[in-house]
Amino acid sequence: MDVALKPATEIPNAKGVPLAGNTFEMAKDPASFFVRCYRDYGPVYRVNVFGRKQYVIAGAEAAKFMSTRAGREGLRSKEFWQDFIDHYGATRSLTQVDGDEHRKMRGLFRRGFSRQAVVGRYHELADIGDRSMADKWKVGDSVPVVEGFQYMIVQMIGEIMTGDAPLEYVKDIRTNILFLLNVLVTKQRPKIMLKSPKFKKASARMNELGRQMIVDFKAHADNGTLPDNLLGDIMQGHLDHPDLIPESDLALILTGPYVAGLDTVANTVAAATYAILKTPGVLEKVQAEADALYAKETVTEADVRGLTYIQNCLKEAMRLWPIAVAQMRTTTKEIEFEGYKIPANEMIFIGTSVPHFMEEYFPNPMTFDPDRYNDDRKEHMCPGAYSPFGRGPHTCLGQNLAEVLMGMIMSRLFHRLDLSLDPPGYVLKTKSAPTPGPAMDFKVKVVGERRPAKALTPEVIEDE
Ligand code: HEM
Repeated sequence: MDVALKPATEIPNAKGVPLAGNTFEMAKDPASFFVRCYRDYGPVYRVNVFGRKQYVIAGAEAAKFMSTRAGREGLRSKEFWQDFIDHYGATRSLTQVDGDEHRKMRGLFRRGFSRQAVVGRYHELADIGDRSMADKWKVGDSVPVVEGFQYMIVQMIGEIMTGDAPLEYVKDIRTNILFLLNVLVTKQRPKIMLKSPKFKKASARMNELGRQMIVDFKAHADNGTLPDNLLGDIMQGHLDHPDLIPESDLALILTGPYVAGLDTVANTVAAATYAILKTPGVLEKVQAEADALYAKETVTEADVRGLTYIQNCLKEAMRLWPIAVAQMRTTTKEIEFEGYKIPANEMIFIGTSVPHFMEEYFPNPMTFDPDRYNDDRKEHMCPGAYSPFGRGPHTCLGQNLAEVLMGMIMSRLFHRLDLSLDPPGYVLKTKSAPTPGPAMDFKVKVVGERRPAKALTPEVIEDE
């Protein structure tokens, strides 16, 4: 009943330090910060970050709320992405629109972002992994893990989507993402940073890549050779629906898969690599499963999805090191949540990852335990408990694709190479910007080669 609802003025403020409020605590370890506040204040509270007061709703109820009608209609994404869109001179992006427009755009992109994109191409993914390892993971080297995986995923996305990987642009893509997400989306850094020569150079190179991709894809469209994949779908979508995908938006959309896949995948597989090497008894099981996979001549999607133990390690890495600790939205209207009214047009964090760290859902939550996801436990299936790919209408469109790519990366790496933490007793440090994950200086030593780079036989796909 409306009368029972408490006004926003009664929502508790998270205790912080004078002036900076909660800025530093949140920047240091956002996941722990949201959990600490949930414990102290309950599922609704307010934080002060960079002088901005923002509402937070957190926990399993908040995760579930995002998919309800009240959540779908009461939250929008526009504000958080607007500066980013403006930077590209685009009119919109999938992440920033809501309602009908969002449904239509998602429909256009769904197939290309699905795991359909790699059907019949698992032999190529293994080969890309091998080439990337030969380049960045040499025996005897101490490899910066996040960066090593960033190169590998760009190579996979590039070769699969365009037939060519813009490897010479990887550093620029990384710098671009780092600056733009930090400054324009999560707003954790001041705008002045976009004036730095380092960013300007990366930005110019990213524009160059975008322009080149447009030229290439236009030529394909003219010749009737548009590839049957996401980028082909985007170009066709532009030709068929210029109202939804105008020319001005092409560069942003065509380079989008790199932005969406680079940090998310690299951070997750890096975290999984750490946990696999650190947790007693895990590495042997990962190696056994990977070796059984590559004992086959041909690898299919079903095989990669059937890597139960490795997929469980990835699930557990996404629980403990979620790349989206909280989702950021603006309220479109007054919303009611857990006994409070939250006014319209307010910035709000939805702390969907808070239950990941709660004993109530995941016993011994700080322990890396891949067996939690086994059929006899299924701890993640409790409603609202587990949201690594977000919640609600903007939930990750690349989830299935990400799962098979990460399955391939992990299995191939641990099949091929003998790795150890460097130094051996290393305890993981994390970064929070632009995307939470392992620190860039997390390294592993390539101790030796376990198995040679044996090529897979391509899968024969029957025509339907
Ligand atoms: C471990 C890997 C990944 C994780 C954990 C992840 C997580 C997420 C999350 C949490 C969101 C929602 C953000 C929000 O609601 O504000 C999201 C959105 C999205 N992701 Fe992923 N992602 C991953 C990999 C990928 C990959 C590889 C792709 C495609 C190449 C991709 C494509 C997308 C797209 C297109 C959206 C926007 C959906 C929309 O706004 O409707 N993701 N992802």
